[in-house]
Amino acid sequence: MSAQSGATARTALKGVDLLNTPLLNHGTAFTLPERAALGLEGLLPTSVETIDRQVDRAKQQLASKPDDLERYIYLNQLADTDETLFYRLVMADPAYFLPILYDPTVGYACLKFGHLYRRPRGMYVSLEHQGRVRQVLENWPVKDVRVICVSTGGRILGLGDLGANGMGIPIGKLQLYTACAAVPQRALLPILLDCGTENEGLLADPLYLGLRQRRPSDDEMTVFVDEFVDAVQQVFPNCCIHFEDWRGTDAVRFLARYQDKVSCFNDDIQGTGSIVVAGLFNALAIKKEKFRDQTVLFFGAGSAGLGNARMIVSAMKLEGLSDEEARRRIWMFDINGLLEPSRTDLLAEQKLYAHPHAPSRDLRAVVESVKPTILIGVSTVGRAFTQPVIETMARASSRPIIFALSNPTEKAECTPAQAYEWTRGQALYAAGVQFPPVMYNGKTYLPGQANNFYVYPAVGLAVYATNTRRVTDEMFITAARAIADQVTDEQRNLGLLFPLQKDVLEAEIRTAEAVAGVIFDRGFARVERPKDINLWLRGLLYRADYAPVA
Ligand code: NAI
Repeated sequence: MSAQSGATARTALKGVDLLNTPLLNHGTAFTLPERAALGLEGLLPTSVETIDRQVDRAKQQLASKPDDLERYIYLNQLADTDETLFYRLVMADPAYFLPILYDPTVGYACLKFGHLYRRPRGMYVSLEHQGRVRQVLENWPVKDVRVICVSTGGRILGLGDLGANGMGIPIGKLQLYTACAAVPQRALLPILLDCGTENEGLLADPLYLGLRQRRPSDDEMTVFVDEFVDAVQQVFPNCCIHFEDWRGTDAVRFLARYQDKVSCFNDDIQGTGSIVVAGLFNALAIKKEKFRDQTVLFFGAGSAGLGNARMIVSAMKLEGLSDEEARRRIWMFDINGLLEPSRTDLLAEQKLYAHPHAPSRDLRAVVESVKPTILIGVSTVGRAFTQPVIETMARASSRPIIFALSNPTEKAECTPAQAYEWTRGQALYAAGVQFPPVMYNGKTYLPGQANNFYVYPAVGLAVYATNTRRVTDEMFITAARAIADQVTDEQRNLGLLFPLQKDVLEAEIRTAEAVAGVIFDRGFARVERPKDINLWLRGLLYRADYAPVA
């Protein structure tokens, strides 16, 4: 059975069962001979339509929806009815659909997941399945799964612990693999690892759909996740595990536990780090400065902060610094203040960035004394970069780099308008969400979106195509360079730090080509190296056309 264009999709399904199978359903585009052969006569209106006519109708219906959450619900219902049409629609204009299918809208959808729920998608593996996770995974109908995106719902965007409501995240992430990088959707499996929740509101909500218990201890969690990772190796031997939106401490420790053993990556750590480094490559190109000369202050020292720091260290090392020298240029500030050696609450990974300094809980004062040239917000605390903080930054650096990455929108540490205004137009700014252009002093500024959707679908395409045995930091640095290099000098002059969203598929393919190159170079691929990687990848892309059904 295949939904790829060109091939015929063979199925024993007929009639209503066929119409209820989203991967095979063509709705009104079933031809007259197909209708006759497949028991569909009388089950569809008379008119036989093209997929493009169906897209026109879907667009009209979408336009009548009052807001993005309603559009999100509509789109997911469409995906549940006719996947080819869904992808035809979203792949025609990914830039428009990104904020609807993913952040910020997906965040609001996750908050209400149990209330919006229509039908299942992906898999729910819960603590109740412990001891038989392999058996449970075997219920999935597709055997050649190449990427699983798995969340525990432990930290959804900047919204905290949403337990099983977090399922919207792996679903949305994998939809973007296909929408942005044309990874065939049959090879992708979203999973929610249901380990309970600490969210009182959800535990008390009669419509909550997850396990109604508190999260287990770290040790119990490790036993369960070990079983899950092991079961994936057995049931889907060619599969890479993409960890997404786990609680910060879980994200860090489980990546460390598995990254050298199985094919896996953590997008909050490595994907975010990669896109931030891509933006910084371009911001520094605009300033004509080097990574090795920067001082970085992170506001937020969780999985995203530590992941970014780890990638920035790699980028500084490429410019000749040692690990130690690179880390000394990176400072961190979290909910308990500046990370410094007298703190007793730090994880091993955080201690690497705890440099001698007096204890402080005052961000502005820390900016004053550390004099960062780059300030990165990954704290989930909206508007934490106040005017005094930004003005102090602007005194320390003529063109301060300010990335306010927390999302959804209201969690951004400052808006682009604030960053430009408080630095008199000197800030090089990026956010986690897409803000509209800003007019300041008669000039238009284009705030960048440092969103890892430029990274993980491309890594996903490379992983899918090569069947890689491992995913390494080097691949994410390579992705960052490839993304950064796609911004032209002319675009950089307008302050653009990332490729334009309208070119996202092209950007992803070129990034995937670079990542696949590293996979082959390092001997991790489980397929033969093609002569021309770009051409080979293009031949593997999913195309949202109806395949004849027989
Ligand atoms: P996390 O929960 O692991 O870490 C949050 C960090 O912020 C912790 O170190 C915490 O101590 C700190 N923090 C919380 N309140 C604070 C306060 N009042 N003052 C100072 N520090 C405070 O979360 P994670 O995974 O690191 O994500 C953080 C944010 O980054 C989220 O909003 C997430 O959506 C965003 N993010 C954005 C991405 C992008 O591509 N733009 C990708 C990944 C994450």
